[in-house]
Amino acid sequence: MKELAGKKILLGITGGIAAYKSAVLCRELMRLGAEVRVIMTAAATQFITPLTLQALSGHPVHSDLFAAENEDAMGHIELARWADRILIAPASAQTISKLAHGEADNLLTTTGLASDASLMIAPAMNNVMWRDVATQENIKLLRARDVLILGPASGDQACGETGPGRMLEADEISEYVLQQFQAQSLKGKRVIVTAGPTWEAIDPVRGLTNHSSGKMGYALAGALHDAGANVTLISGPTALHPPRSVPCIHITSAQEMSDAVMENITGCDIFVAVAAVADYRPVSSTEQKIKKTAETLTLKLVRNPDILAMVAALEKPPFTVGFAAETENLIDHAKEKLAAKKIDLIAANPVSGDNSAFNSESNELSLIDSNGITHLGRCSKSILAHKLTKEIVRRYYETHPTKDT
Ligand SMILES: Cc1cc2nc3c(=O)[nH]c(=O)nc-3n(C[C@H](O)[C@H](O)[C@H](O)COP(=O)(O)O)c2cc1C
Repeated sequence: MKELAGKKILLGITGGIAAYKSAVLCRELMRLGAEVRVIMTAAATQFITPLTLQALSGHPVHSDLFAAENEDAMGHIELARWADRILIAPASAQTISKLAHGEADNLLTTTGLASDASLMIAPAMNNVMWRDVATQENIKLLRARDVLILGPASGDQACGETGPGRMLEADEISEYVLQQFQAQSLKGKRVIVTAGPTWEAIDPVRGLTNHSSGKMGYALAGALHDAGANVTLISGPTALHPPRSVPCIHITSAQEMSDAVMENITGCDIFVAVAAVADYRPVSSTEQKIKKTAETLTLKLVRNPDILAMVAALEKPPFTVGFAAETENLIDHAKEKLAAKKIDLIAANPVSGDNSAFNSESNELSLIDSNGITHLGRCSKSILAHKLTKEIVRRYYETHPTKDT
């Protein structure tokens, strides 16, 4: 399916080693049906030839702000008006700085300034350049103006160093682009996402918890928000900042999470339980710190409320999505959970060994519903969140066929 059919994407390429990846990106966007026009900065042409991009996009590449033939045909104002989205990949530190400060001294920055189209940039640079205060301040300025910053990823760099600054891969960038065009598919829908671990107090200083970082749930809350939903995040203790414009109810224990969910569930269209909720809590927690006197200490535990099952059992349940975090027999356990809790969809992720989803930047999800299994594969939690959002949207509208778009 050509999901970007009819979409006009202006691809800006700046001077960085990662410019070679832009050729693959151009192809990928066109494979998805997009019409692509390319602007290259003078520095970009040092890394990859305009001829390559011309051959791939099927259109002349634009580089020169003052090219007389361009101003007659497709000058910067025409390009600015033509584009549905402007995607700059790679975005160099230099171009990021110019964009942040409204500079317009070449065709790319001038077109960017002259266009109302949403701007997406995929930074790519040496990790020291990326971490530099100047770059970070510029990125902050752009973010505040709703420029979508894609990546960068962390890892081995062309300069031989390791760290943040690698441009995302072409398929990851095109996934973001796709998501942008599907942006309003959940407009008007209320969504609750739970995230993070819970903390079950033993005494005032100790408790039972787990390794959940909250990253998958927070990423999903952001992706659902990007899809136009009115998202409420209900989160256990994490070190994360909720995505912008997503209200967050902070809770500590499973009982508090259950209370917060049930207080907010009325009128909710989609409920996604990503949180790693403790199954058990101590029967009671002491008011004072337990002293180290006895040789052994026995903790008696009692079952916590099963939030997912409670929501699915409501008279008018929302479309309910659960997560199964398993150390073994992942798919079998997830299928059992899907059936036992009578939910609509379950996302299974492994939480043991090198591929553990816990406390990791990446994850691997398999989706199971009454129609079978869909493997979303392993990728960054942010990309995965957008892929999962797409799957949720499709299934939601299949079971609630009132979509008016
Ligand atoms: C071999 C080489 C590799 C470079 N790689 C990068 C890079 O990955 N990211 C970056 O921001 N700048 C990089 N630069 C520096 C930019 O090319 C330079 O700042 C240039 O002025 C960017 O201009 P532009 O933003 O107009 O394309 C590199 C320079 C050289 C010589």
